[in-house]
Amino acid sequence: MSKTILITGGAGFIGSHVVREFVLKYPSSHIINLDALTYAGNLENLKDIEDKPNYTFVKADITDAAKINSIFQEYQPDGIIHLAAESHVDRSITNPLEFVMTNVIGTVNLLNAAKDIWADNYEGKRFHHVSTDEVYGTLGETGLFTEETSYDPHSPYSASKASSDHFVRAYADTYGLPVVITNCSNNYGPNHFPEKLIPLCIHNIIHKKPLPIYGDGKFTRDWLFVIDHAKAIDLVFHKGNLGESYNVGGFNEWQNIDLVKELCKQMDEKLGRAVGESAQLITFVKDRPGHDLRYAIDASKINTELGYEPSVTFEQGLSKTIDWFLANQDWLDNVTSGDYQSYYKKQYIGS
Ligand code: NAD
Ligand code: TYD
Repeated sequence: MSKTILITGGAGFIGSHVVREFVLKYPSSHIINLDALTYAGNLENLKDIEDKPNYTFVKADITDAAKINSIFQEYQPDGIIHLAAESHVDRSITNPLEFVMTNVIGTVNLLNAAKDIWADNYEGKRFHHVSTDEVYGTLGETGLFTEETSYDPHSPYSASKASSDHFVRAYADTYGLPVVITNCSNNYGPNHFPEKLIPLCIHNIIHKKPLPIYGDGKFTRDWLFVIDHAKAIDLVFHKGNLGESYNVGGFNEWQNIDLVKELCKQMDEKLGRAVGESAQLITFVKDRPGHDLRYAIDASKINTELGYEPSVTFEQGLSKTIDWFLANQDWLDNVTSGDYQSYYKKQYIGS
């Protein structure tokens, strides 16, 4: 095997697409998926590649420093791609400490473990930290986040991710650790956990349940197809300049209400329902506290320096996503049983 690449959070939504991309594209590299399998982690996401000879799954919690150190000693990874995180803003409002533990302490544990095994010999080594555009805070009606935008997080989730980004940079400045950071906009696609807007609405449209829109629905997000995020991570991991950050996005802003209407339209067509039927499920609900008005990424640096471009338009990506969910209703039924029911009740029904 030429290289050993350890990917954290590989059983989650984005991580599973990154693991698949690397396992299939780099058959001579050993790809280790390290994941604690929280409610958001699901090895079903990787069924198609789990028997590949260059793939290993290791169950571990990144908050457990001793375990992380021993895994790093055992596998001696040359590269780390760190995606493991608590990732849902609404859950961070209910339980901020869990976000500090995984997103901040967990990241520092990984940085320490990498620093220890590499022991100042950084030739061919790289720590890629996967972060979010939410660290930049919120935009007004105009403007875009660039890599120079000051950090200004507002939710416990974004504050924990901002903190982890600062630690990654601090390890580069203090210990010379070879790092790169990517800050990506909102992802959507297959295997997206149905607590987030798009898969939650797809699930509810299928079951003719209300589509909860926070506040007036005029909040804006910039959406990127998950496989295009995985391709950007591959590019930056291999070709990005050390010590730098790259914003990742597709210049694709949507107000939540317009996005949900588009989803309803496409799903009515695919499900053979009457025009406008699913849009009747739209229900305005109480706003999220500290709700950021608008995120929009200026992705020109990754485009000009590394030649990155998304491979699908939003219409294509959304259509592929709906098709995947319709063809994988067992997956959706599995992840929406158990714990999901009590989360949903607390978040949307209030008991
Ligand atoms: P996700 O919630 O779907 O998956 C997170 C994964 O991390 C799960 O497999 C979970 O089991 C694992 N995990 C959680 N806590 C862990 C711990 N303590 N130890 C080990 N594993 C643990 O998240 P996602 O949406 O795939 O996001 C992945 C990464 O990308 C996160 O770092 C997130 O901040 C970042 N990101 C997400 C988006 C987005 O739109 N989803 C956008 C930009 C950046
Ligand atoms: P989400 O998918 O949770 O991603 P993030 O908060 O990380 O951007 O939410 C996307 C947008 O949709 C955000 O403005 C909040 C809004 N939203 C709703 O209106 N209703 C919902 O039920 C959810 C989950 C989100």
